[in-house]
Amino acid sequence: MLPHRRRARALAAPAPAPPSGRFPGVAVYLAERRMGRSRRAFLTRLARSKGFRVLDAFSSEVTHVVMEQTSAEEAICWQEHVATTCPDGPHPALLDITWFTESMEAGQPVPVEFRHRLEVAEPRKGPLSPEWIPSYACQRPTPLTHHNTTLSEALDILAEAAVFEGSEGRCLSFQRASAVLRALPSPVTSLRQLQGLPYFGEHSSRVVRELLEHGACEEVEKIRCSERYQTMKLFTQIFGVGVKTANRWYLEGLRTLDELREQPQRLTQQQKAGLQHHQDLSTPVGRSDAEALQELVEAAVGQILPGATVTLTGGFRRGKMLGHDVDFLITHPEQGQEVGLLPRLLHHLQSQGLVLYHQHHPSHLGDLTYLAQQKHTMDAFERSFCIFRLPQPPGAAEGVLESWKAVRVDLVVAPSSQFPFALLGWTGSQLFERELRRFSRKEKGLCLNSHGLFDPEKKTIFHVASEEDIFRHLGLEYLPPEQRNA
Ligand code: UTP
Ligand code: MN
Repeated sequence: MLPHRRRARALAAPAPAPPSGRFPGVAVYLAERRMGRSRRAFLTRLARSKGFRVLDAFSSEVTHVVMEQTSAEEAICWQEHVATTCPDGPHPALLDITWFTESMEAGQPVPVEFRHRLEVAEPRKGPLSPEWIPSYACQRPTPLTHHNTTLSEALDILAEAAVFEGSEGRCLSFQRASAVLRALPSPVTSLRQLQGLPYFGEHSSRVVRELLEHGACEEVEKIRCSERYQTMKLFTQIFGVGVKTANRWYLEGLRTLDELREQPQRLTQQQKAGLQHHQDLSTPVGRSDAEALQELVEAAVGQILPGATVTLTGGFRRGKMLGHDVDFLITHPEQGQEVGLLPRLLHHLQSQGLVLYHQHHPSHLGDLTYLAQQKHTMDAFERSFCIFRLPQPPGAAEGVLESWKAVRVDLVVAPSSQFPFALLGWTGSQLFERELRRFSRKEKGLCLNSHGLFDPEKKTIFHVASEEDIFRHLGLEYLPPEQRNA
């Protein structure tokens, strides 16, 4: 397999830095990429002590390129690199570390066998190697439909279960790994493809391996079937119920919605409304419902404050066909005009019989102490968390007698100068937003939220006219909403 194809050139070449060694036909290059510098130095010393010629830099003299933990994609990159470095060939063998260790044991270069060779036969499907997958979700497009649904859904369940146990950090790790899979341009079919991908630690890799090998992951299936997961999912899906409340109820032994309904004294008004309309609210909202709602809200806004605009945000703006609620952002081009709009809008909608429940949150925009506190998970915009009574066209759903359906709607009002930030913040996904804010803080030293972009050192605020401007200020390539499905 390994003829002395380099011999003539190697001997004719000027004396190279390392001595030519006992095996003149062999010049090894250890690719450091995953090996790490110290391991490479160790292996180099080892090989040289056994009389191998090891070159420090890659050149056309190299006969054996040795890599460790290298993915097929990286190997292909190498192959391309080799083709440019040695355009006339012959090309060195691209080898797994096993060739090297066997040769060290044998005290001489073992013949190259097929099993030593890196898997480079696969056609290049797209950029999969780590240099192509940036680690922040805001640095790469994430479409709605992708190639790794089974894998990402399994990781999403682990992320959800981690939240239920109060482990934010673990949740984020699984969410980030899942988002990486959703950004890949092709399906993951071998574990090798995960090597070097950001956020693929031992745990997430093990889940993917089990799914690839057996079609299911035991840990995920156990969670999915567990009483704990199912109950926490049931409770947290109720309007007004967070993880803390759901956990308390679970620990007290509550398991069903009927058990909750039997204890109305423990429920907030919001939770009561959530339980009352639970069946409708746990049915996904379709895009046509979201569009019908937009028309209703727009018509009402148009009557109360002509010129004000209503923008569909959240998952529907990202192109989703189904959602758990419908999010609207309202503004007026003339700043200040929007003040006082929301109560009037709700009043108007109520008089039309469209509102089943609403909870108003006043604006905190003028409240400097509120704004200075970083701990708020909610922004300071005036908003209303509602349940709408959406009329249904006749025959919309088979077997449904009601001519209306309860739908969760969030109405948010932003002054026009903050509109692009509010729009970016309310478009999501939630992970995309988190990553965007983390990127701003860690990589740019800037503070981003739904109100603005601030430089805490220079104490300056960036003025923007669009979402594109925000991406530009952050040095990021613009991603349209459909590519923010991280
Ligand atoms: P949603 O929770 O509505 O999620 O928040 P979604 O992406 O639309 O998905 P579904 O289909 O409804 O389940 C939408 C965006 O609004 C932000 C979230 O961070 C998310 O990015 N948001 C939500 C806020 O900024 N503040 C809030 O109080 C709630
Ligand atoms: Mn939503």
